[in-house]
Amino acid sequence: MRILVTGGAGFIGSHFVKRLHAAGEDVVVLDKLTYSGNRANLPDDVEFQHGDIAEPADVETAARGADAIVNFAAETHVDRSILTAEDFGRTEFRGTQVLLEHIRRTGIRLVQVSTDEVYGDLEAGGSSSETDPLRPSSPYSAAKAAGDLLIPAYVRTFGVNASITRGSNTYGPNQYPEKFIPLFTTNALDGEPLPLYGDGRQVRDWLFVEDHCAGIEHVLREGKPGEIYNVGGGDEHENIDVATRIVELTGADRSLLRSVADREGHDRRYSLDTSKLRGLGWAPQTTFEDGLARTVQWYRENRDWWEPIKSGEYREYYERQYGARLAGGTTV
Ligand code: NAD
Ligand code: TYD
Repeated sequence: MRILVTGGAGFIGSHFVKRLHAAGEDVVVLDKLTYSGNRANLPDDVEFQHGDIAEPADVETAARGADAIVNFAAETHVDRSILTAEDFGRTEFRGTQVLLEHIRRTGIRLVQVSTDEVYGDLEAGGSSSETDPLRPSSPYSAAKAAGDLLIPAYVRTFGVNASITRGSNTYGPNQYPEKFIPLFTTNALDGEPLPLYGDGRQVRDWLFVEDHCAGIEHVLREGKPGEIYNVGGGDEHENIDVATRIVELTGADRSLLRSVADREGHDRRYSLDTSKLRGLGWAPQTTFEDGLARTVQWYRENRDWWEPIKSGEYREYYERQYGARLAGGTTV
């Protein structure tokens, strides 16, 4: 199989590319190299095209000869979508539509990589299953849901071969340090404050990146057209507990933890029912304890990867997002 991986220079996409590449698959990457895309995440000998999934000509060129597309390309950070949501609609909705138009013409397969956040939060308990209604609450998750809705519509109307995966919060090496775990890890290693939103009792279902990639590959090979598959770690933890473990693993001072003004519209809890994909033979292999220790170790040993990122545009974003919050923060 020749596989086009869109958004393959980002965090999860680059792990997916390395996984297929190491298994001897023929892989090509199309990536716009936004602030979170990084060519250095990929081996030099992986075929790479710089371009945009929302541009039909870019997709046409990159997908030449491909048997399948796996779409990771997205604007991915909730906090940035609250500051400015413009690019989210273009990439998540228009970009997905361009990919669907391509598979409609060519008949090749598409796996759309989506998120548990489209289900909205589950404060009262229980887990989201694939048939649940979509109740997105951030501009990010609403844009992802909009892209998702196109998939069954194209399957039903045009009979295209497309499936959706909905992954839970993913962590591991090479994650851009704006997300919770790499932000707290790199700040802790630098002795910088750790800004915990609100009461820190929000719950996320954590999934190690390799397990997420294995789930997506499973759906690529075994998934059925029009079907949705949840991919979750089943490892639910409150943010305050994750932050405490990061403090311990990095050997940082606990006084770095700050309670800061909450994220607007902050989802309280996510949880996924993954019985459908488990029924196809997939299961996560990495416990949160092991995965987090490996991740912290990777950031400790790879300062040359993240230190250059934490300058320039990142600093401007950091100041906008955290300047006033940290000034008004309290110790935990
Ligand atoms: P990331 O921000 O690290 O990577 C996104 C990649 O997409 C970058 O390389 C970026 O350059 C590229 N990109 C953005 N817009 C593009 C465009 N218009 N055309 C081509 N490339 C473009 O994000 P990630 O965490 O690796 O997430 C990858 C996918 O997985 C996303 O679709 C995201 O919604 C989904 N997801 C992420 C998580 C998570 O916890 N990180 C969980 C579930 C699902
Ligand atoms: P994040 O990594 O942004 O993922 P998502 O919002 O998509 O689940 O955040 C994970 C959790 O961590 C979420 O409840 C928000 C919280 N968080 C903080 O408390 N402080 C921070 O600085 C960040 C980035 C996140």
